[in-house]
Amino acid sequence: MHLTKLQKWLWTMVAIALVGSLGFAAWIKYWPTGNIYISRMVGETEVIQPRFQLTSHTGGKVSDATWRGKWQMVFFGFTNCPDVCPTTLAEMAMVMEGLGKDAEKVKPLFISIDPARDRVADMAEYVAAFHPAITGLTGTDTEIATVAKNFRVYYAKGEPIDASDNYNMAHTSVIYLISPEGQFVRVFSFGTRAKDILKDIQQRL
Ligand code: NI
Repeated sequence: MHLTKLQKWLWTMVAIALVGSLGFAAWIKYWPTGNIYISRMVGETEVIQPRFQLTSHTGGKVSDATWRGKWQMVFFGFTNCPDVCPTTLAEMAMVMEGLGKDAEKVKPLFISIDPARDRVADMAEYVAAFHPAITGLTGTDTEIATVAKNFRVYYAKGEPIDASDNYNMAHTSVIYLISPEGQFVRVFSFGTRAKDILKDIQQRL
């Protein structure tokens, strides 16, 4: 397979992130906001309503009903993410590969929580670097705020990280599993191995 420059860069980031993931896990565990938020979220799973109205990376208007009938793996992040997002999207790609012909029963979605920078074309280029099945979704600030509220996703803009006003986003880093009927089923916490996610999903198909 021919890899584009972006793909090479992203997969290099994945490798670096995997090496650093233990340190990151320790960091997020003691990161007050994230830890408190995730604890609260897991305790409130019954109120997660996986509903959205967004724009896909091909430019079409989509909603949660668009992929009704398929299991949905939903992850929130941003295309400039240095570690968590590329690592998780790489895992989702591995799950899709592992599913073989059952891949048609599962839809992986990547929803931007940085709509100011992640426009449709950015989402298209980004998700294509990981797996052709992944659909990237973005929207207006209001649409993103609404889907984040519905999924109980935390996200916040960080301080500028350089003189060009680049910034990172803090964000909930779990993968949500949504049933073919559109009901929230469970989350996979950051760092869950692709083979464990695959096994869980295969048992449900
Ligand atoms: Ni991220």
